[in-house]
Amino acid sequence: MSRGMNDPKGVVLVVAGLKGGIGKTTLSLNLSLAVAQRRWRVLLVDADPQGSIGFSIHGDLHQKSGLAEVLAGEVDLDQAVVKSRLAELDLLPVGQIPSVAASRWSTDLEDGEAIGSFFAGAQKAYDLIIVDTPPSLGGVTLGAMSRASFVISPLQAEPLAARSVSKFLEVLAHLKAEGSSVEMIGVVLNMLQSRHDSSLAVAQESWNLFPEDLVFEATIPRDPAFLHASAAGTPVGLLQRRPPAVAAVFDQIAAELETKIGFDVDDDQAISLLG
Ligand SMILES: Nc1ncnc2c1ncn2[C@@H]1O[C@H](COP(=O)(O)OP(=O)(O)O)[C@@H](O)[C@H]1O
Ligand SMILES: [Mg+2]
Repeated sequence: MSRGMNDPKGVVLVVAGLKGGIGKTTLSLNLSLAVAQRRWRVLLVDADPQGSIGFSIHGDLHQKSGLAEVLAGEVDLDQAVVKSRLAELDLLPVGQIPSVAASRWSTDLEDGEAIGSFFAGAQKAYDLIIVDTPPSLGGVTLGAMSRASFVISPLQAEPLAARSVSKFLEVLAHLKAEGSSVEMIGVVLNMLQSRHDSSLAVAQESWNLFPEDLVFEATIPRDPAFLHASAAGTPVGLLQRRPPAVAAVFDQIAAELETKIGFDVDDDQAISLLG
């Protein structure tokens, strides 16, 4: 897609969070689809040695080569990517990492060197590289964040969750002090139950705690569609021919993201309704 002169190329967006089960993989997968449906070329990278993306999508993705083999120089990126049903969306599974070696694999990537060169290669072919990470701010997550353009984090609408974001901001401040140009693009409230006071209180707390532009306007409700989608091994937007209402949230997040990172189509004009 053509973009304005000043638009960044090959933006790297790392999806990270301190805890498991807060929606990192859900956000990575569904946002990747939404951005690709808006016609940006997207590479979704699974950097979780547990293979979150590989396991949440049906098929044999978790048996394929992927990030691990590309980083080891055993295969090229274009050989390792798995095509999706959208021309704009490619997937890179994490690859084959024996469970006993997972922690070592992750630690070895903490300095960001290897993953930084990987990003540099991928940036030539994609507008946006979305990286799903394991629940930790060290290891491969830290390495990826240090070389990323932006970090986004789901914030589970549960009491005390907002406090973990402060730790997060500390880690990013540290990376920036060491010369990284990474920016926190924002947090997305997940599993919001707008009819529950405690859930709303968390939303309220994060709106009060963080600068306004740090919290995405769009929020992800708690919705059984995510379980159905997980069971079907697909993003909610592809769950059925007429997707459930919750799928539209990711288009909203994608639109906000475009604005925040300055993706712009230079020849974008209103389109006439009439043919
Ligand atoms: N908004 C939501 N409503 C209902 N279930 C959700 C929602 N977000 C995530 N889930 C479910 O919660 C579980 C954990 O989500 P996941 O994205 O895998 O978290 P993480 O990658 O942070 O460990 C998954 O089963 C997922 O389908
Ligand atoms: Mg995950």
